[in-house]
Amino acid sequence: MKIKWGVIGCGGIAYRRTIPGMMLSENSELVAVMDTNFEAAQKTKDEFGAKYAFSTVEEVLALDEIDAVYIATPVFCHKEQAMLAAKAKKHILLEKPMGLSVAESKEIADFCKAEGVKLGVGLMMRFSAYHQKMREMIQSGALGEIVSMRGQLTCWYPEIPGNWRQNKATSGGGALMDMGIHCIDLLQYISGTKAKTVSCFAQNQTFGYSADDSAALLMKMDNGATAFVDANFNIPDAAARARLEFYGTKGSILAEGTISQVETGTIALTLSDDSIGYDAQQNREIDGASNVEVVTGNMYEKEISSFANAILNDTEPEIPAEDGLFVQTIVEQAYLASEDGIYKNI
Ligand SMILES: NC(=O)c1ccc[n+]([C@@H]2O[C@H](COP(=O)([O-])OP(=O)(O)OC[C@H]3O[C@@H](n4cnc5c(N)ncnc54)[C@H](O)[C@@H]3O)[C@@H](O)[C@H]2O)c1
Repeated sequence: MKIKWGVIGCGGIAYRRTIPGMMLSENSELVAVMDTNFEAAQKTKDEFGAKYAFSTVEEVLALDEIDAVYIATPVFCHKEQAMLAAKAKKHILLEKPMGLSVAESKEIADFCKAEGVKLGVGLMMRFSAYHQKMREMIQSGALGEIVSMRGQLTCWYPEIPGNWRQNKATSGGGALMDMGIHCIDLLQYISGTKAKTVSCFAQNQTFGYSADDSAALLMKMDNGATAFVDANFNIPDAAARARLEFYGTKGSILAEGTISQVETGTIALTLSDDSIGYDAQQNREIDGASNVEVVTGNMYEKEISSFANAILNDTEPEIPAEDGLFVQTIVEQAYLASEDGIYKNI
């Protein structure tokens, strides 16, 4: 059996990544696409062979044959559309961040629960084979106790008049909300820890828009480790490294380029024999790290198939609303910490 999908919002991520992923999914079928820009909906219908193209959400939701919707609209549209979909008893895969604020996201989650529909969140970076591999290695104890972590995601995002993502009122936040949220989620997911306390600098250093173009977040995790997230809209794409770093009492994992919309990058693993005592001379050579190989796939296909499975088997979505709410709480507290200079408990 296949889950029949309606897609709400046929812009960048839906057209370029998620619908192509849906096409590869064995338990999913694209039925309807919708965009307020009807040309975008029509183009998406033609490209991917959907049955219907619409310009209103109501038309999608009126289709009895649709089981689930994927919402990939600007963040300020999420709440209204998710609540309409829940009211129409459609299961919802909602792009990150879930809403403009934690309060809004919680309203969405509570409403979906009350209406008895499943709500999953588009933190699809978790499905990358590289991230799964790092999680497996770290949670099996290969690095010993994790003591320090870093996640970095950057891009070049110059001012575009009228752009929803650059306006805090329509996006909820900039570099930290849009990209840092993936890093925070991955650090927690891969290490199996959760943030307890956060501190942050979020600012506009380069561009004149209201959403932050650069942010540095410091977290204290529940196992005592510290973690750093840096997210920037003001670093050229050619200079981007997209680093994920995990350091433990027995070694490190350094990944580069894995925080990406395609499963790519490298993972370097360094393990140290913990019988070696403290070297008072600190005459160290950096050991050659070994590269870790993985079998890659398409994380959007895995994201869609996973949510469809949750519907078919009536199980909790792999990335449930609670996880989306938790990372958004960290981001929101980080912005507050940046404003008043005081660290915040989560
Ligand atoms: N998980 C990821 O890899 C990833 C990557 C990029 C974006 N996103 C998220 O996906 C969402 C969309 O981002 P994007 O980059 O695709 O944005 P985008 O601006 O490229 O596309 C948004 C689309 O929504 C349409 N739209 C605007 N208002 C609408 C409405 N009221 N109803 C229906 N359609 C409407 C626009 O015409 C446009 O086609 C955001 O929540 C963003 O954070 C996730």
